[in-house]
Amino acid sequence: MRKTPLLILGIATSLFFLAQVTRAQSPAPKVRAAEDGLALTPPMGWYPWNEFGQEPQNEKLIKEIVDALISSGMKDAGYVYVGPDEGICFSRGEDGKLTSNLARYPSGLRGLGNYIHQRGLKYALYTDAGTHTCSKAMPGTEDHEFEDMAAFAEWRTDYLKVDWCNTQGLPRHSPSVPNVPRGPEDVAPAYTKLRDAQLDAGRPIVFSLCSWGVGEPWKWAASVGHLWRTTGDIAAPGKANWSTAMRNTTANEKLYAAAGPGHWNDPDLLINGMDGLSETQNRSFFSLWCMMAAPLMASNDLRKMTASTIRILTNREAIGINQDPLGIQGRIVRREGQVEIWADKRLFDGSQAVLVFNTGNAPADVHVTWSDIGSGESAALYVRDLWTHRTTGKHRGGLTVNVPASDVALLRISKSKTFPLPPVIVAESYRLSFRTAAVKPQKLSGAITVKTTGSNELPLWKVRPGLPIWLSVAVTKHGKSQKLSNTVSTAGLAKGLYHAVVRADNIEPVSGLPMSALYYDVDLEIGGEEVRN
Ligand code: GLA
Repeated sequence: MRKTPLLILGIATSLFFLAQVTRAQSPAPKVRAAEDGLALTPPMGWYPWNEFGQEPQNEKLIKEIVDALISSGMKDAGYVYVGPDEGICFSRGEDGKLTSNLARYPSGLRGLGNYIHQRGLKYALYTDAGTHTCSKAMPGTEDHEFEDMAAFAEWRTDYLKVDWCNTQGLPRHSPSVPNVPRGPEDVAPAYTKLRDAQLDAGRPIVFSLCSWGVGEPWKWAASVGHLWRTTGDIAAPGKANWSTAMRNTTANEKLYAAAGPGHWNDPDLLINGMDGLSETQNRSFFSLWCMMAAPLMASNDLRKMTASTIRILTNREAIGINQDPLGIQGRIVRREGQVEIWADKRLFDGSQAVLVFNTGNAPADVHVTWSDIGSGESAALYVRDLWTHRTTGKHRGGLTVNVPASDVALLRISKSKTFPLPPVIVAESYRLSFRTAAVKPQKLSGAITVKTTGSNELPLWKVRPGLPIWLSVAVTKHGKSQKLSNTVSTAGLAKGLYHAVVRADNIEPVSGLPMSALYYDVDLEIGGEEVRN
């Protein structure tokens, strides 16, 4: 079996990132995402933990969820990362290597990844930095960091959550990482080693640190991963808990300065659509997560959602402020009694997002002033309500909104009457697989189609140079969709398996900022060997 190295190349740090990190409270860390272009907007997807806990996580469940992600319209709204959490996915063999738990995942973990990639979704998996995962059902990465990260790359993982249970034995001192709190809460050495192991394994993977806020990752982890949990768990599996959700909101809000493209505060998975939440709470919760530029990882049972849950989870105008390319985390700028006014979230077209959240038990009339958004009171502005989808204005000096108890008004305020949506990329597939039995020169071809559901067309995707000699890619544009046409030439290739990861880059045309890189896998099999893992 022969393999070509993965094709991952550096990307120049843009002025944009420099601008973002100057917002942070501590000296600017190097941003890992500036190189890999991953998660430049908050990750969106689905993880099982909130609804299911450990049971019944298995291949059947994940495949049914994948199908529901697509049929419910969530994929088209931008939810892309999906896979098991602590789902008893693998064990460690005598040789120290991880092997798939075939009783639960009969296609193997690579097979499950293929199923996900072929449907235009990205593959999320889970592990732990300690000796074992939290329930001890799976081995952790301690003392196996490099071989485990190689296994995750081999399974074609795109997103990896790394938990912090059973870590008592890990080293706690990392002189090389700036801004780390020293002492028993120093989680940086372990996560930094895992980052190095990931880079060594060579696959671009979104790295989600899950130390529940231990070790203050918002101060240093932008150079290590792409997002970090800021709080404890938002719910015990099976039931939403409003007061825990509010606890997480309060803790996460304060950390606004640390968030930006490719480095996000993560107040935990969504609780939308779970038992224990009213429709109003569902809407308010989703608005808060959008306003905080928090990852939108749904965690409910997508196979049985109400129309209201689908409407909330797929509200593209709310998602638009979450997926805004500037990546600013909004914050509370003013309190009026029980009402919070959230703002300081400038958007890519010069408009601003504002959230009025009534935490009280009675309806409230709230006057949003233009000084809340840093504008002069004489400005004449249009206001778009992102839940009623109505635009009013021009308003001068502010506007008054009536907000029922526990409810929100989620607004976008602009000088212009149009409210463009930022790009959300939806792909037909993230994997191309070519097979030929004959060892002779041949040309094979296949395409990946991607579209943007934003308001504007995108420039042509730019494929990174450095493809292996057997692969070439040409891009064509048809309005909002683009085709990446792949040609494989087998001339000179021996029998075996070949693999490449293609990377393409784009910029957002309204803001001119870099977008998350687009990656997909190309497999080539010559001579009829079976691809198995
Ligand atoms: C921790 C994490 C949760 C979940 C469980 C799995 O509690 O914070 O999100 O992954 O472990 O055991």
